[in-house]
Amino acid sequence: MSHATCSAVTPSNQSLIDGEVYVPGLPSEYVTRKYGVAPEDVAKLASAENPHGASPLAVKAVAEAQSRLSLYPDWTAAALREAIGEKYGFDPEGVVCGSGETEVISMVIRAFAGPDEPVLMHSPCFPLYRIYSNCEGRAPVFSPMGKDFDPDVDRYIDTMHKVKPRIAFMTNPHNPSGRLMSEAEVRAVCDAAGGDTLLALDEAYVHYSSAEFGLDLLREYDNLIVLRTMSKAFGLAGLRVGFGISANPALIRPLRLIKPTWNMGQLQIAGAIAGINDDEHVDRAVATIREMRPYVMSGVDGIDGFRAVPGSEANFFLTEILAPELDSTKVFNELLRRGVIVKDGSDIPQLGSRYLRVDVNLKKHMDRFLWALGDISY
Ligand SMILES: Cc1ncc(COP(=O)(O)O)c(C=O)c1O
Repeated sequence: MSHATCSAVTPSNQSLIDGEVYVPGLPSEYVTRKYGVAPEDVAKLASAENPHGASPLAVKAVAEAQSRLSLYPDWTAAALREAIGEKYGFDPEGVVCGSGETEVISMVIRAFAGPDEPVLMHSPCFPLYRIYSNCEGRAPVFSPMGKDFDPDVDRYIDTMHKVKPRIAFMTNPHNPSGRLMSEAEVRAVCDAAGGDTLLALDEAYVHYSSAEFGLDLLREYDNLIVLRTMSKAFGLAGLRVGFGISANPALIRPLRLIKPTWNMGQLQIAGAIAGINDDEHVDRAVATIREMRPYVMSGVDGIDGFRAVPGSEANFFLTEILAPELDSTKVFNELLRRGVIVKDGSDIPQLGSRYLRVDVNLKKHMDRFLWALGDISY
């Protein structure tokens, strides 16, 4: 008998045995291998990456940092915390860094909600709030969104009053819809929260929006943490850097204690220090997204059987499938055959089979997507 079949060892909860697994966007190589589309022609529109690649300043700094690979990095990434603090005007003691923002999200859930305690989030939401909550044995609680993914803040606040969550996630702009909560709406949630609720404002896509107010709110709410990533506007998804900022260092200290000790390597630290000040690169990405977003969304609206869900302020938007004979998996597969990778709504629990999530990207990729969608609709 093998060890695997006789072991009585089990993980601490059922989600670690048969729980939900995150479904990432497909890589370009998949489409090239399966359908023979040249790599440069594949429209990779499912991972919300930067259309212009990585910050050149970060790339240079990473190359230079190779000489330090034999040395342990500083375990709190102090130099990076200082650079982030200086950039945004906060004390470095109020900054924690993670191997991607997703690591910071997992640390927040472990540190601020105990077993079976409620963690509030919208439905649908970025799946990892729910997946990590379940895997850690915390209790995710969902507040449904309204028509066309209106954040329905009244309902969110009602739910908050009922369940008294230990953590309340807000995503601004929202993933997967790109919808924005206004400053008044975010403030309403912050004002309604009990002092023992940690407010986690996820601003992964904030650069592409008209709402860069989250960091200012930190000075007013000492139970608020803002979460950010360098994967999007900075173009560093492959480097794995994210961070949390709070004006209240008492929120940051537990995260520092719970994180894997040397969670940020030499290359991550060096690249992120250079990248965080690469305004030129960020501005370029923002300009492309702001130009291409209305272009591609109105293009979708012009194709029979499809509609762009209005209101996105992110670098992606939802396409709703109106044609009854089509569903998201069918359209997803037909797009793949035409060299276009999008996200199938069926792979995003709580979103479902009437939607695709599509990145905004360079015009040539938008044109390929619009051509392919039009081709499927006939
Ligand atoms: C809402 C949201 N938050 C956080 C992240 C995590 O980004 P990363 O772990 O790459 O920093 C993502 C990535 O897709 C996201 O959509």
